[in-house]
Amino acid sequence: MDAPAPDRFYVTTPIYYVNGTPHIGHAYTTILADVLTRYHRLFGRQAYFLTGTDEHGLKVQQAAEAACMEPKAYCDSMVGNFKDLWDRLGIRYDRFIRTTDDNHIAYVHEILQRLWDAGEIYSSSYQGWYCIPDERFWTEKDLVDGNCPECGREVIELEEENYFFRMGSYGDWLIEHIEANPDFIFPETRRNEVLGFLRRGLEDLCVSRPKSRLIWGIPLPFDHEYVTYVWFDALLNYVSAVEEISGPNGEDKWWPADLHLIGKDIITTHCVYWPTMLKAAGLELPKRIAAHGWWLVEEEKMSKSRGNVVKPLDLAEQYGVDAFRYFLMREMTVGQDRSFNEVDMVQRYNSELANDLGNALSRVTKMILRYRDGVLGQPADGDEKLEVEMKAIASKAVVNVPAAVEALQINRAVDEVMELVRATNRYLEMREPWQLAKDEQKKSLLDTTLYTAVESLRLAGVLLYPVMPEKTVRLMEQLGFYPDMTGGDYESLTAWGVLEPGSSIPGGESLFPRIELPEDLRD
Ligand code: MSP
Repeated sequence: MDAPAPDRFYVTTPIYYVNGTPHIGHAYTTILADVLTRYHRLFGRQAYFLTGTDEHGLKVQQAAEAACMEPKAYCDSMVGNFKDLWDRLGIRYDRFIRTTDDNHIAYVHEILQRLWDAGEIYSSSYQGWYCIPDERFWTEKDLVDGNCPECGREVIELEEENYFFRMGSYGDWLIEHIEANPDFIFPETRRNEVLGFLRRGLEDLCVSRPKSRLIWGIPLPFDHEYVTYVWFDALLNYVSAVEEISGPNGEDKWWPADLHLIGKDIITTHCVYWPTMLKAAGLELPKRIAAHGWWLVEEEKMSKSRGNVVKPLDLAEQYGVDAFRYFLMREMTVGQDRSFNEVDMVQRYNSELANDLGNALSRVTKMILRYRDGVLGQPADGDEKLEVEMKAIASKAVVNVPAAVEALQINRAVDEVMELVRATNRYLEMREPWQLAKDEQKKSLLDTTLYTAVESLRLAGVLLYPVMPEKTVRLMEQLGFYPDMTGGDYESLTAWGVLEPGSSIPGGESLFPRIELPEDLRD
């Protein structure tokens, strides 16, 4: 993006349906938000990371009934599944919102009342097609082969009195906004999809459900016989969560969000309903909405019925949290689908983390222990060609990682760092410090070589910290570097030559021991 970097970064994930079991898709989005938050803090910005659960609606009501529980008690019993998993995956959010939180409910009331008073919501009789699982109304022309255009499932014909938001009057305005702001929807394919949808004409949006059909929702403030449509309630979480911390006069204002992360299946709600709701309520629009693709299993969507759901905790427990985070970030290009494959994960771990990064670290720390009693030597003044090259590769990574993060290309950011790690290994092969150690005349070059390798690996640790917060802190500790990574002074952390000659290099146990492919995955 060309605009000057703001000093604040507010990122959100979708709020997950509380009745679901979190799988790799949910874990991916939430880890991505965590990684972005940590990067932005590292770049010196203040960041706020919001996630939570979507607790109203028919699906939750039905799940509670099936469990013979009151809906709220049922939600209370389920929410821990998400919080525990995020904890175990090293995810540090700033706020976990639940749509049953009192202040969220009060905020939804405030907005509904504002729109009602402004004539943006009206009552009318509705006749159309309804998708029960998605809780969405569709017009005849929206249907695909007579089925729900979003999920492909059967729809039923329905007629009832309801409340409608004048969404249709904002179609042209939204087209203009999207055209004038190329970064608003990412990636471009999704942007075009939304524009196509809008150009077919925008209808008003039904924002109520009669209590005869659904009780588990936020009652409309102006008609208690109705509850609020679950998406209208859910989308407002992004503002309600930060409203209450914004201070009495908005001195600590976080809205508008810098980034909404979503999956590609919920773009209509986020890129059409949400901006029009905000516009009508007189609120600012989010700066960017990024839709990622799906994690597939053998090219198919994961589902309970297919029995192919990938469980994040199992993988994190078997291979380590950071290895799992690394793999998700390394493999996925934000915006595209990706097939998950455990064999690929083990192979990538072995080749990139065990072989490239882990080996470089243990080689270098062991040599310093062996040849220099664990003390970092003084590099020579004036660089030779190889050292000039190493420093150039390192500073390229320092510049390119923030650019890649800004462009949501986390896989490219990771690759930039791994290129530095591979270059360090090549550098060691060329300098052959194990040969230099045999020759007293080469003492200075040996110190230069070890110093150059240590600084490169230290930088790799800083730059990969957001992706692997636990392992990289240990990596940096093994190099005698103990920075506070929660804030961030990017320039000083990534300057060349931060480690003082004469400082001790403690080393330690292997960070990424090789993994054998589990027996059931061998062919
Ligand atoms: N509650 C709504 C969101 C409301 S936001 C105001 C919802 N919840 S969900 O739990 O069903 O899905 C949450 C997210 O998970 C969506 O972004 C969806 O795209 C994502 N994923 C579901 N399956 C997925 C994969 N297989 N891979 C990647 N993400 C996937 O929708």
